[in-house]
Amino acid sequence: MKPKVFVTRRIPAPGPAILAEYCEVDMFLGEYPPRKEEISKGVKGKDALLCLLTDKIDSDIMAAAPNLKVISSFSVGYEHIDVGEATRRGIYVTYTPGVLTEATADFAWALLMAAARRVVEADKVVKTGNWKIAWGPTILLGDDVYGKTLGVVGLGRIGTAVAKRAKGFNIRTIYFDVVRAPLEKEKELDIAYVPLEKLLEESDFVSVHVPLMKETYHLFNEAQFRQMKRTAFLINTSRGAVIDEKALAKALQEKLIAGAALDVFEKEPTDPDNPFVNMDNVVLAPHVASATKEARSKMSEVSAKNLVAVLKGEMPLFLVNKEVLNIRPLAQVKTI
Ligand code: DGY
Repeated sequence: MKPKVFVTRRIPAPGPAILAEYCEVDMFLGEYPPRKEEISKGVKGKDALLCLLTDKIDSDIMAAAPNLKVISSFSVGYEHIDVGEATRRGIYVTYTPGVLTEATADFAWALLMAAARRVVEADKVVKTGNWKIAWGPTILLGDDVYGKTLGVVGLGRIGTAVAKRAKGFNIRTIYFDVVRAPLEKEKELDIAYVPLEKLLEESDFVSVHVPLMKETYHLFNEAQFRQMKRTAFLINTSRGAVIDEKALAKALQEKLIAGAALDVFEKEPTDPDNPFVNMDNVVLAPHVASATKEARSKMSEVSAKNLVAVLKGEMPLFLVNKEVLNIRPLAQVKTI
């Protein structure tokens, strides 16, 4: 008998075919993320769960599925999963790092460029019939990107990919991370390590690439905005709650910084009264930094392969909770 898997949303190819080869697949077909009761119901009696970052997988969900052996997330972030609880229960938690790095780094740059050069405002002027003067010396003036200073906060995979792209813009790149990178890496990327305060003081663009953890919750608040240049832009493609949004809105209103570009928010989707919606100096996107056909297809493949590997009793490509190997060795979760 094939092991049973619950998939919390339709995912693109090739994941569904990979799963179907080895498992009996039950896929939630709704357009919106399933509610907690729907996940509990779906996961009941299943050996595996493939979920998205919008699904909160807590102890209640795990309790509803005593046979659960693996939770495979179609995401690089895994703060939506109670990993400690999963480990205690001997459930493997897997994720999809690497395959969305380049797409996300490209998008961080797209946001940076859009904010600095007012691309969204310019588009609106043309489309709304407000392009009245053919050309003017001071129309829609933005900020140079070339030759400026970029501050990368968090030099993991995505932060590194963002830093790599800076070279072509003759940008001076500085970075902060809790763990300093090896000197060879700094040299190769031509970047310099600085404390966060110095990074904030010196950067024209601050791009955030840290995971959401209790240590990074509201890492950016009023104090940080006060340290930034009044001409600086903040770009966030990591997680919304890394930034105190109320403090950011206030900083933008008070012109403590020049602008922001945000792909992620404390509450997603944003409420209609979200203060950023009416700000011309803020570029917004609905959590789509990894949304390329190529990246999503790879995320699908890797999340399905991770799940199948655990059920085969093999090491998955990307395991979050390595400690689980001692709690329930792979041989004991083998069902294929
Ligand atoms: C992830 O995978 O965690 C990303 O936020 C998706 O874009």
